[in-house]
Amino acid sequence: MLKLGFRNGAVAGTPAAGSAKAPKQFLTTHLVPVTGVRAHARAPFTQQQQQHVTRRNWAAAAASSDEQEPRSGLVGVTGGVGRRCVEALRAKGVACRALVKDAARAANLLPKPTTPANSSSGTSGGPEFDVMTGDVYQYATLPRAFAGCDAVIVASAANDKSDPFGPFKIDYQGTLNLIAAAKRAGVKRFVFVTSIGADDPFNPLNLFWGILFWKKRAEEELQRSGLSYTIVRPGGLKSKLGDGEVAGSIVMEGPDSFGFPPMRRSGAILRSQVADVCVEALVCPAAADKVVEVIAEESAPERSLQQLFEGVAL
Ligand SMILES: NC(=O)c1ccc[n+]([C@@H]2O[C@H](COP(=O)([O-])OP(=O)(O)OC[C@H]3O[C@@H](n4cnc5c(N)ncnc54)[C@H](OP(=O)(O)O)[C@@H]3O)[C@@H](O)[C@H]2O)c1
Repeated sequence: MLKLGFRNGAVAGTPAAGSAKAPKQFLTTHLVPVTGVRAHARAPFTQQQQQHVTRRNWAAAAASSDEQEPRSGLVGVTGGVGRRCVEALRAKGVACRALVKDAARAANLLPKPTTPANSSSGTSGGPEFDVMTGDVYQYATLPRAFAGCDAVIVASAANDKSDPFGPFKIDYQGTLNLIAAAKRAGVKRFVFVTSIGADDPFNPLNLFWGILFWKKRAEEELQRSGLSYTIVRPGGLKSKLGDGEVAGSIVMEGPDSFGFPPMRRSGAILRSQVADVCVEALVCPAAADKVVEVIAEESAPERSLQQLFEGVAL
């Protein structure tokens, strides 16, 4: 997991922990320092502030809360989307923490930690980045990984196709564990990567141990958790473009827009584009409490991520 840290905090008028969806204004007010209180926290930016993620404006937003540098936590970072989320956040200078299942595998794929947590090796320079080992299916390994994180991006998924219980254990139960850990840490925005087709129980992908069925159940748990969330459902994922292929512009729609033809329009998108959507969702007020489906199309008009989020109804 990657540590996407929003500061722990609460503000008068914010919903109590465990309550239903946070009111919209909750995300548009400032963080205030709170001692010994863990409640729903707000996104670190106001409507009036620049909504694109940079280290400067992230730090400025957090300065009103306490002295600790805001950071984000990331889960699934040895995977395609998660790794690109790390790259995108680090390029913007945002402190991150990665939660990984296998530290040795992660060491070959991720940047060297700048502040080693449970590791003895580390380097200095660049935004703070640390790596912790944990398993989303083992709740006890998660709370310390989210401690101090202001926001999280979860891009983990069952990737052992031979395990019929994988989607239940990783995509569903693992996400429940992550939600519980995020609530305990006072995380302010939970960005969750699932998939187009999640609304369709007859989608053929469910032949793979009910993968979309369990992703949808996990989405619902997040929606009723009381956390501020953004659920990002990408179309078919591509790591790179083929010869002569162009990436196209991101097309963002609400739930049940894309899926399996002929009932639904299908589509694909680069993993790096999905990572950009996730990173923007961390701080964009218009992304709060939305389910968005994303593909990319050459003929689509170029729009900013904020405009794309604003174009999807709550
Ligand atoms: N493939 C597609 O075309 C497609 C289309 C739409 C949506 N999606 C969804 O988009 C999301 C991101 O896809 P992706 O291709 O980036 O995924 P991926 O490459 O399969 O990465 C999955 C990540 O989850 C981690 N993970 C698995 N079990 C774990 C556990 N028990 N504890 C902690 N971490 C665990 C993996 O760690 P290890 O590397 O250590 O195993 C890996 O980092 C997934 O939810 C995927 O289902 C995929």
